Amino acid sequence: MELTGKVVLVTGASRGIGRATAQALVARGATVAVAATSEDALGDLGAASTHAFDLSDPANALALAEEVEGRHGRVDVLVNNAGVRVDQLVTHVDLDDLDRSFQVNALSPYVLAGRLAAGMAERGEGVVVNLVAPVVSPGRRGMGPYASSKAALESLTNTLRQEVGGKGVAVFGFDPGWVRTDLAPDGKEEPGPVAERLVAHIEAGKGSKTPLS
Ligand SMILES: NC(=O)c1ccc[n+]([C@@H]2O[C@H](COP(=O)([O-])OP(=O)(O)OC[C@H]3O[C@@H](n4cnc5c(N)ncnc54)[C@H](OP(=O)(O)O)[C@@H]3O)[C@@H](O)[C@H]2O)c1
Repeated sequence: MELTGKVVLVTGASRGIGRATAQALVARGATVAVAATSEDALGDLGAASTHAFDLSDPANALALAEEVEGRHGRVDVLVNNAGVRVDQLVTHVDLDDLDRSFQVNALSPYVLAGRLAAGMAERGEGVVVNLVAPVVSPGRRGMGPYASSKAALESLTNTLRQEVGGKGVAVFGFDPGWVRTDLAPDGKEEPGPVAERLVAHIEAGKGSKTPLS
């Protein structure tokens, strides 16, 4: 997909991979809508619009989708990037942590993808990319809330691809690798090059498991 003039929504754009991705998309000439819980860190991105929504409530995800579509008329590309990492043994059950993990990492991305992919399928063009973590989502000791919510995100990705993939909508997961951010302070790679790879996959309409040609 040629990104110039395309309307792109990036969640979790206040820092880390999402911020770098928003910057790369602005540089491509896309009309970029950026979201985070607060607009404080969104103002200097050069984005077309900024949106403050707390995605620990999926009702807010629906409201975000409607606000961005209302503002720009459509969304051509969704980057479901916002995420939280809660490290916890499964035997340590904390309902608030579990709730936040699944709402932010799985349910809100589900609502955004479903709501916005409907319009993409009608227009016969669009991209939905979900930030997945395939190294941990099959299961990782001490990372229950994060790993299991990311597994749900992978399931959503595959299901939505089966439903709208034949209608001109590319749906894929992007594995960023191990990136130095607040979520992974010991990560090996800086967000900038990772964001460039992510944008290249959006342009090609291919997930990170599929090599770019
Ligand atoms: N870093 C890695 O090595 C790695 C590996 C695999 C996958 N990933 C995935 O890549 C994505 C980005 O991760 P990152 O490393 O860039 O993390 P990060 O630096 O911690 O950034 C997380 C982003 O998510 C937003 N967010 C968190 N809770 C939110 C909420 N309740 N409502 C709305 N936005 C919320 C944050 O915005 P606020 O300013 O509002 O908090 C922030 O912009 C995540 O989905 C993560 O799981 C990362």
